[in-house]
Amino acid sequence: MSTPQVLPSLLAADFSRLEAEIRSVEEAGARILHLDVMDGRFVPNLTFGPLIVRAIAKLTTCVLDTHLMVVEPAHLVPAFREAGSHWISFHVEASADVPGTLETIRRSGALPGLALNPETPFDAVCPYLEGLNHLLLMSVSPGFGGQGFREEVLAKIEEAARFRDANGLSYLISVDGGIGSRTAPRVLRAGADLLVAGSVIFRAPDRAREIRAMLEGGAG
Ligand code: DX5
Ligand code: ZN
Repeated sequence: MSTPQVLPSLLAADFSRLEAEIRSVEEAGARILHLDVMDGRFVPNLTFGPLIVRAIAKLTTCVLDTHLMVVEPAHLVPAFREAGSHWISFHVEASADVPGTLETIRRSGALPGLALNPETPFDAVCPYLEGLNHLLLMSVSPGFGGQGFREEVLAKIEEAARFRDANGLSYLISVDGGIGSRTAPRVLRAGADLLVAGSVIFRAPDRAREIRAMLEGGAG
C-alpha cells in the first residue's frame, strides 16, 4: 500500500491571494494539488479552465491533479495537459467513450484517472481499471465544496480496494468531498490512498496541523 497523502483542493482557496495559499499548503507538506474544473453542465457550478491551470503551474512544483467535471471531456484534455496538468480525471457518467477518453489522456502524457459520483456503482468502472493511475470516488455530489461526507461511500472504497488486490491492479484510491479529521480515519481504514480536502484545510489557521490530524487519525 502507498503512504496516504492529503491533496488540498484549491476550490476552497482564496483566489485573490492564490500564490500565498499554494505556498501555505506546500509548507504544510502537500505534494499534490487537486484542481476542480466545472462546466456548468455536468455540475451546476462553473470554475476555471486551462488558463488558470497554467497560472497555478507557474506557482508550484506540486503534481497537478485535475478533476474534470465536464460533459464530454476528451476534447479538453490536450489544453489541460499543455497548461501543466500531470493527472487528469473525468467522470465515467460524463463520457460516451470512456476507453477512448482514457487513451486520449495517456497519449497527452498525463496520467489518467476515472471519477464516479456517490450514486454510481463500482461496477461502472470495472472494465477500465487496468493501467489506471487513480480512481476518484466522490463522497459528495460534485459541484460544490463544504458538503457533508456521504457514509455510503465507505463500502465502495472497500470494494475498490478489494477488487484491486484480488486482480493485481495498482490504481490509487482517491476520495473527494466532506473529508476532515473525523472522516479521514474511516476513509483510510476503508482503503483510500489519497484524501482530497478543500474547505477543512483552507479554513484552518494551521494547515500543517490539519493535514497531520487527517493522516495520523488513520493510524489507530
Ligand atoms: C466537489 C469537488 C471537491 C471539493 C471538496 O465537487 O470535487 O474536490 O473541493 O471540497 P470539500 O473538502 O469542501 O468537500
Ligand atoms: Zn474534486
